[in-house]
Amino acid sequence: MNNSYSSSTQDYYDIVIAGSGGAGLSLALHLADSFKIAVLAKFALTECSTYYAQGGISAVYDEKHDSIESHIEDTLIAGSGLCDPEIVRLTVGQGRKSIEWLREQGVNFTQEHSSSGKLRLHLNREGGHSHRRIVHTDDATGKAVSLSLIERARAHANITLLEYHNVVELITAKNLGEKTQGIRGAYVLNSLTGKITSIACKILVLATGGANKVYLYSTNPHTSSGDGIALAWRAGCRISNMEFMQFHPTCLYHPSAHSFLISEAVRGEGGHLLLPNGKRFMQQYDSRMELAPRDIVARAIDSEIKKHGIDCVYLDISHQSRDFIQKHFPTIYMQCLELDIDICQQPIPVVPAAHYTCGGILTDSHARTDIPGLYAIGEVACTGLHGANRMASNSLLECLVFAEQANLDIRHHIVNIPKPGILPNWDESKVSDSDEEVLISHNWDELRRSMWDYVGIVRTNKRLERAMNRVILLQEEISEYYGQFRISSDLLELRNLVIVAELIIRCAQMRKESRGLHFTQDYPHTDNSKAPQNTILIPKNYGNN
Ligand code: FAD
Ligand code: SIN
Repeated sequence: MNNSYSSSTQDYYDIVIAGSGGAGLSLALHLADSFKIAVLAKFALTECSTYYAQGGISAVYDEKHDSIESHIEDTLIAGSGLCDPEIVRLTVGQGRKSIEWLREQGVNFTQEHSSSGKLRLHLNREGGHSHRRIVHTDDATGKAVSLSLIERARAHANITLLEYHNVVELITAKNLGEKTQGIRGAYVLNSLTGKITSIACKILVLATGGANKVYLYSTNPHTSSGDGIALAWRAGCRISNMEFMQFHPTCLYHPSAHSFLISEAVRGEGGHLLLPNGKRFMQQYDSRMELAPRDIVARAIDSEIKKHGIDCVYLDISHQSRDFIQKHFPTIYMQCLELDIDICQQPIPVVPAAHYTCGGILTDSHARTDIPGLYAIGEVACTGLHGANRMASNSLLECLVFAEQANLDIRHHIVNIPKPGILPNWDESKVSDSDEEVLISHNWDELRRSMWDYVGIVRTNKRLERAMNRVILLQEEISEYYGQFRISSDLLELRNLVIVAELIIRCAQMRKESRGLHFTQDYPHTDNSKAPQNTILIPKNYGNN
């Protein structure tokens, strides 16, 4: 680590939360009555996956047709034998409570009148769900959630919001040569000033989102660079199930629109997938057609694209009325119209893109990691909820439920944790300004293209091996560069992404079967001869920190 042990003035908070998405801000709001909290975001507060979420949040509200048991069963089926049933029950059981909490924070969900004239929440349907159970705010649920939580957090005297603050490295008791274990703080880069400072805390929570930017094409904002996973791995935490990277079947395919999602709710409202000749094809893949879980739909689209040598397939909702489309999908309608696609009359060109990281930092039911005082919540964590494949709209629910689980645990334990002493300064005495920034952008492109080509929707042993060879070379080059030059946000992200890429490939190589999101031509079937196993990677320094 680039540090020296001279003392300095430093910031202290009881709790530092890295991440201003649904998970991080919910936890901050739960804890703020009793503790001083800093929420760090590496860009603007709204730049996170939460803000861009479209479809909604799953919760059982239709008591006549739906039930908790049914939601649990659908989640377990999607997860392909690898969900932790207790975690699924815990999470699904908190659905309504979580939605009501969000409503208390000011989130306005879309409502409708029931046949008796009463106002109730409007529920969408999405793939894998056997009932309508997606609570939403039109087709921009994440924006409504983000803006409400940010407003509440801004108004709270105990919450300090630090935008453009990027966690560089965690500081553990072990790093400081202490005999005990635990988290002591973090080195943080202010990317506006370029300064790195240490922030001390009793509890540190990683709520840094997923790692989907490791792929060339992704629905995610650029914050999803797997920082939390790489930070926790370097600090000595186990990482699990990284082979299960989810590809969303329908990302808009247009040269001027990067990363724009066409919500699964469009298929939920009857959208058909079509080949360029107008023919449907999902009947060849699954009896649930367009409403099959997304691994099946994404693989079907990938297979049709490769079979016919076409650039994309099409999603057609034009059989619904203009009124219906504009009311249910105002954001998607306007975004497409700006690109001269009138979705009321034309099908939408779509391709699959990397969307969600099912694996991550291994946590228990209270979001605890392997390091005392270090928690992980939201997409960065692997709680056991999603197993081998996440069902649509279960992710925001997980963010909310595990924010509450962490809240309970932190309140219980923080009283026994002493305030850390002075932390060492970050040492920049041996580095200089980079004269070869091009290396970062070049390596970034190479990494993301290799992952897309070799570790994508369909894998083989050979492709994984090729990808690993490239990743190792990139790691060597980036590590050398990191040791020589002053760090920037781009360099930090690249350094983290090459670690995450390695973890994804290692997990994929360890799984000698196809299951859920992991499909390999060398083992095309699910191995039912033994109980399904999670893939767990153990770092060299495990147990020491
Ligand atoms: P995020 O919301 O991604 O927030 C991550 C935060 O961590 C950001 O503030 C970022 O700046 C910060 N951060 C990252 N690295 C660092 C660092 N090194 N230092 C400091 N801060 C850092 N799920 C659903 O359930 N329903 C949906 O309808 C839905 N739609 C989606 C649509 C899109 C387009 C996308 C991309 C995802 C969607 N998902 C949906 C998934 C869901 O939005 C995410 O899984 C969820 O929002 C993740 O929340 P989070 O709080 O864990 O992370
Ligand atoms: C979508 O709206 O299709 C995204 C839902 C999700 O990822 O959960």
